[in-house]
Amino acid sequence: MIILGIETSCDETAVGVLEIKKTKAGFFIHPLSNIIASQIKIHRKYGGVVPMLASREHTKNIPIVTKKALKQASISEKSIDSKIDLIAVTKGPGLILSLLIGVNFAKTLAWKWDKPIIGINHLEGHLYSFLLPQTKSSKQIYNTESVFPSICLLVSGGNTQLIHVKGIGKYKIIGETRDDATGECFDKGARILGLSYPGGPAIAAEAAKCNKQGTQYSIQNTEYKIQLPRPMIDSKNYDFSFSGLKTALLYLTQDLGPKKVKKYCSVIAYEFQEAIADVLVEKTIKAAKEFKTKSIILAGGVSANKRLKEKFQARLKKERLNIKLLIPKLEYATDNAIMIALAGFFQYIKHGKKPLGWKNIEADSNLRLI
Ligand code: KG4
Repeated sequence: MIILGIETSCDETAVGVLEIKKTKAGFFIHPLSNIIASQIKIHRKYGGVVPMLASREHTKNIPIVTKKALKQASISEKSIDSKIDLIAVTKGPGLILSLLIGVNFAKTLAWKWDKPIIGINHLEGHLYSFLLPQTKSSKQIYNTESVFPSICLLVSGGNTQLIHVKGIGKYKIIGETRDDATGECFDKGARILGLSYPGGPAIAAEAAKCNKQGTQYSIQNTEYKIQLPRPMIDSKNYDFSFSGLKTALLYLTQDLGPKKVKKYCSVIAYEFQEAIADVLVEKTIKAAKEFKTKSIILAGGVSANKRLKEKFQARLKKERLNIKLLIPKLEYATDNAIMIALAGFFQYIKHGKKPLGWKNIEADSNLRLI
C-alpha cells in the first residue's frame, strides 16, 4: 500500500510518501519521497522554537511541501485516487499550534480525496525509524524477528524515555526524564556556552575540536580539570534528570569567566556531551540486561550524536553483549514524515485495516505512548 505521511509537531514541516507491504520474508519498505522544510534559521536567533512563528511557517509551507512530496513520488493530481491508500498524520505530542496545522490539513485532504486517515503518536514514529532505508535509493525487506524484545532509548528535543518494546505495537515506558529532555539539555547547554541552535549538533562539533587538539582523553592536561556530574547514573530506577547538569554547566561557566569559557569551550562541550552520553548508555544497557533484549533501538534527534553511538558500541563490545544496536539513518533521526507513514502502517494493520474517518482525529499535545 502507499501512505502519505504528514508531520508538523514542532518546527519541521514534513511530508513523505511510503510504499509498504507485509510479505512472508518481512516488511517491504520503500520510501518514495521525504520532503522537509526546516525552520531552524527562523528560530535560531531566539535560541529555541517560538510556537507562534512555527505555526505560521507550517501554514505557509504545508501545501508546498505536500506538492513536492507527491511530485517526487511521481504521483500526479489525477493519480492520487488510484495511488494513495492511507493518510497518516502526527496527532501528538508536540506544540499544539503546530500539531493543529498538520492535523487539520491532513483531515481536509482525507475529506477531499475520500481516503482513510490515521492519527499517529510522534514518538511511535521515532521508535520505528531505524527500519527505514535511504529515500528512493533502496527498497528493503526487514524481518523484525531478530529485533524484539528490545529497549528503545528515545531521545529528542521534547522527550527522553526508555521503552521496553515487546513487539510491534507492544510498548511499556520503564523510565523517563523528570525534568528536561536530552535534546533540550543540549540546546540549553549550547546557549550557555554561546553556541548556536540547535544545540546538539553545535555541542558535538565543538566537542570534536577538543578531540582534534588531542585533549579528548586528557582533560586533566588542560589548566583546569573540567568535570560535570552524571545525574541519576546510579539510581535504582530508569528515570533521568538533566536540569541539574545544565545548572552545573552554568555555575562552571560563571566560575571560569567569559575568557576561559571561550578558551576551553571545546573541552567544556566535550565533558558536557560525555556526561549526557554516560548516563544514557548506563541506564539503557542496564535495562537491556534486565529485560534480556535482543536489541537496543536509538531513536529521536539525539540519536544522530556520533559520540553517543560510539559509546554504546564500545560498551557492548567491552561487556561482550550479544545485543544489536539499531540506529536510524541520519535522514530519519530527526523529525520526518516517512516515520509517521511507517507507524501509520503498523497502526492500520493492528486495527484490522478498518477505514478510519477524518472526524475521529484530534490533535493532543500531551499524547502518551501506551
Ligand atoms: O527528534 P527531533 O528532531 O525533534 C523532536 O521531536 O524533538 O530532535 C531535535 C533535538 C534537538 O534538541 C537537537 O539539539 C538534537 O535533537 N540533536 C542532537 C544532534 N542532532 C540533533 N543532539 C545531539 N547530537 C546531535 N548530533
